[in-house]
Amino acid sequence: MVLLGRQGFVSPLAQCAVRLLSSVPQPKTQAVGKPKTGIVMMNMGGPESSEQVHEYLLRIMTDSDMIQLPVQSKLGPFIAKRRTPEVQKKYNEIGGGSPILKWTRYQGQLLCEKLDLLSPATAPHKYYVAFRYVDPLTEHTLAEVEKDGVERAILFSQYPQYSCATTGSSFNAVYSYYKNRNAPSNIKWSIIDRWATHPLLARTIADRINTELNKFSEDVRKDVLILFSAHSLPLKAVNRGDAYPSEVGATVQAVMGELGNSNPYSLVWQSKVGPLPWLGPFTDDAIKGYVKQGKKNFILVPVAFVNEHIETLHEMDIEYAHDLGKELGVKICRAAAPNDHPLFINALADVVIKHLASSQPVSAKFLTRCPHCTNTRCDKSKAWFAQICRS
Ligand code: FES
Repeated sequence: MVLLGRQGFVSPLAQCAVRLLSSVPQPKTQAVGKPKTGIVMMNMGGPESSEQVHEYLLRIMTDSDMIQLPVQSKLGPFIAKRRTPEVQKKYNEIGGGSPILKWTRYQGQLLCEKLDLLSPATAPHKYYVAFRYVDPLTEHTLAEVEKDGVERAILFSQYPQYSCATTGSSFNAVYSYYKNRNAPSNIKWSIIDRWATHPLLARTIADRINTELNKFSEDVRKDVLILFSAHSLPLKAVNRGDAYPSEVGATVQAVMGELGNSNPYSLVWQSKVGPLPWLGPFTDDAIKGYVKQGKKNFILVPVAFVNEHIETLHEMDIEYAHDLGKELGVKICRAAAPNDHPLFINALADVVIKHLASSQPVSAKFLTRCPHCTNTRCDKSKAWFAQICRS
């Protein structure tokens, strides 16, 4: 299905942002005998159909690691219910649901095929998907890992940059699952919590940008403004000491290094919700600001998401590249997410291979809380991981 704007057509200015949703490859069913190593791919997930939207929002709004609300047990469900129709409409506009599960499964399949070749000593490898807010939920996936009887389980965050609201929440969910039962002692557990500056991740994103740069004529190509856009977070979380802004910045520097600092660029933030102050500048405001300064050509780059989902397919493609581009009369392209780029699959494999060879099952950074963290679950969770992840 070709992605259309709200008006039902694609403006010539925005054509470079169009994505084909049907191009998500169908992953093969995993035919692993008894897996030796489980790779648990952790992410937030997204609703596959509009019927799942309410439950998805309800889980987000009642997750105090992700968002902190006054009287959360009451206000969370209220906001989830109120926002459901508006969010369902957005999913309908991108084809009815999020492709994140299909992408993650396909990435997992390609990753494990590569790992079986590169690391026969730890093969067979099997990937597991552990989502935080929709099926397959983390707790169900952990039960499957146990049932399969793997010798080693690697909890692999699919967020390259660490935030307590995303990666931290997923790891806290693992702790919550095991806090009232014993984690199987015959499994060797370890954690990959961040990989923001992996050179192959930077090369992947740089290659995606080059593809878009080539859509501009040679006379303007060097002046195209690259806007790296990441999901924002509340300033309260930033001031608590969340590592995310600095890690996203590190990825941006690595990508620009790959590009030889060929173009002007800026790091901007999207997807703010609610009235409280969030980290800016916001992506749409930044585009408007640069247009006022005379810029006419832009590339939006999803720098913190490894596959397409609502923030790329709707917010970037429809709201910014199409609608805002048309309103302002400027050309806005959007670099594809890493998805199944061969360099990206190599990046995933290299992250795991290096982790397998490392004597550090959990990083010192992961075990250190934010300087102003007051969340007792973080404290207990990190103490539990320190104990369960042993060399
Ligand atoms: Fe960052 Fe608790 S909020 S460790």
